[in-house]
Amino acid sequence: MTQVTDPDFSSLLVQHKCQVAKDIWFFRLVHPQGQNLPSFKAGAHITVETPAGQRRNYSLCNDPAETSFCEIAIKHEHNGRGGSRSMIDQVQVGHLLNVSAPKNDFELLDPAHEVIFIAGGIGVTPLLSMARQMSRLQATGGQGRFRFYYCARDAEGAAFMDELQALQNAGEVSFHFDGGNPDAGLDFWPLLEKPSQAHIYCCGPQGLMDAIKDMSGHWPQDRVHFESFGANAAQHASNSAFQIKLSQSQTVLPVTDKESILEVLRKAGHRVPSSCESGTCGSCKTGLVAGQVDHRDFVLTDSEKLNHIMVCVSRACHANDEIEIDL
Ligand code: FES
Repeated sequence: MTQVTDPDFSSLLVQHKCQVAKDIWFFRLVHPQGQNLPSFKAGAHITVETPAGQRRNYSLCNDPAETSFCEIAIKHEHNGRGGSRSMIDQVQVGHLLNVSAPKNDFELLDPAHEVIFIAGGIGVTPLLSMARQMSRLQATGGQGRFRFYYCARDAEGAAFMDELQALQNAGEVSFHFDGGNPDAGLDFWPLLEKPSQAHIYCCGPQGLMDAIKDMSGHWPQDRVHFESFGANAAQHASNSAFQIKLSQSQTVLPVTDKESILEVLRKAGHRVPSSCESGTCGSCKTGLVAGQVDHRDFVLTDSEKLNHIMVCVSRACHANDEIEIDL
C-alpha cells in the first residue's frame, strides 16, 4: 500500500483474507513475484506497517516448512490504538504490505520433546505454527508430543479449532471456554504443580500469562516460555499520558496515552533495539535514571527494575509523571 522506506522491510502481496472467528481475521501473504519467503522457525513473528502508520507484530501461524507464503491472524482490538483495526478494515486482497523479515523471541526449542502449549484468544497463532511443525515431524517418525490447551471466551471467538483438531496425531488438543467469567477459567495448577521434563509455551492475554507465570515459578525457568502479543492492548484504555526525559540531551518528550515510549523514541529518531514490542524478548532494555515506573514486562528481575525499563511496554505510574532514561 505504501512505498518501502525501511531497508529492513519488503513488500508482500495479500493473497487471501478471511474472517476466522469473531473479531479475528486471517491473512496469507506472498512475494509479489512468486519468490520464496525468508525461512523462519516456529514461534517467529513479522512486523507489519499498518495503514494507520503504526508497526505491529504478528506471529506467523503456518508451518515453517512452508516458504511460498506466510500466514498471520489479527484480532480487532476494540481498546487498541488503531493499527490492527486498520489492517482489518483497509487491507484487501491484492494490496501490498511493508513487512519485516521474521524475528523470533519465542522459538520452539526442541520439537522432538514433550511440550505443553497454553493459548489464550489470539495467542493461539505462534503455538499453532509450533504444533503444525510437531505434527509434520510426527508424521515422518518424530518423537515430540504436545498437550495443547486453548482458552477463549466462547467457540465463536476461538480461531483455528478445526486446524488444531487435525494435528492430534502429535498430541492432545483441548478447548476451554469461560463465557467471559474470569472465575470460570481453566485451573492449570493440577497440570503445573509437579514440574516435568516438558517445555511450556504460553501466549495469550495478560491475566492468563500472569497466572501461568505464578503457577510455574518452581519450574526451571529455561523451560517456561512466554509471548505476549496483544496482551497489552487491553491496558490501553487505562493508559495515561506522561513524559520522558533523555538524560544525555536533557530533552523532554511527551508520551500520549496511545503511544509507547519506544514509539516516541522511534519518532524522535532514536534507534532503540527492539523485537517483540510486548515485553518478553529483552531487546529494548534501557537504563532508568529517575521516575516511578509501572513495569509491564516479563523479563526484568526485581533488582533490575530499580535501574532499567523495557520501553516497549512500561510506562509512568501516574498521569503527567516524568521518567528519566539513560539515552
Ligand atoms: S522489544 Fe522485546 S521486550 Fe521490548
